[in-house]
Amino acid sequence: MRKLIAGNWKMNGLREDGTALAKTIAERARGNDAPEVDWLVCPPFTLLHAVADQLAGSPVRLGAQDCHYAENGAHTGDVAPAMLRDLCCSHVIVGHSERRQNHGETNELVQAKAEAARAHGMTPILCIGETQAERDAGRAMDVLTRQLEGSLPAAGDGELVIAYEPVWAIGTGRTATADDVRAAHAHVRAQLKKTYGEMSGAQMRILYGGSVKPANAGDLMATDDVNGALVGGASLKPDDFWRIGEAAG
Ligand code: PGA
Repeated sequence: MRKLIAGNWKMNGLREDGTALAKTIAERARGNDAPEVDWLVCPPFTLLHAVADQLAGSPVRLGAQDCHYAENGAHTGDVAPAMLRDLCCSHVIVGHSERRQNHGETNELVQAKAEAARAHGMTPILCIGETQAERDAGRAMDVLTRQLEGSLPAAGDGELVIAYEPVWAIGTGRTATADDVRAAHAHVRAQLKKTYGEMSGAQMRILYGGSVKPANAGDLMATDDVNGALVGGASLKPDDFWRIGEAAG
């Protein structure tokens, strides 16, 4: 399966540096020596428009970091899926652990967002992952099962990407070992097949996220059932982001 290399810029970037970053990635991805991967960048809402302009005519896709589940209405500060689609977003991250932790997002809410994104023709990147305490208690796989059971969108048209991001590995410089990642991804794969059937479950991408860097990308991307990366910090450095794509391609 062709790998997806997705950059999650989080709450970073003003117009000048954000557009420069997008421009650099778009130019490189247009080149003949670009690795055989799918590229995606997910800037903050404020930069979607400007970044879309930079990506036009390049193979780099545009994604958002969150969405509301409703069509429109009295939801101050929120952004509807149709608004993202209107700005040419093809993907939306939902259920990132920073939203689950900082905004109290539940599995049920994440599921509603994923379904709303799909209803508008976008691919949700649904994030799951255990905390350090849950891993230490030997409950990592149970947590993933519970998160998937509670937040997977109902079977239906449209793509779905899962991102396995152990919370303790996000922004910490610590990455899971290849064995941990292999076990978690196999667990997710089995759950996807159970929910959507063998064929569909086998075709959905499962990304790894959590301190992915050029130095560890080769090993991580060569691990069974790892179909790409959701990259935070390193996606803000064009050279690092590019090298992660090369390691995956
Ligand atoms: P990180 O973030 O690469 O900075 O650890 C990954 C993520 O949270 O998506």
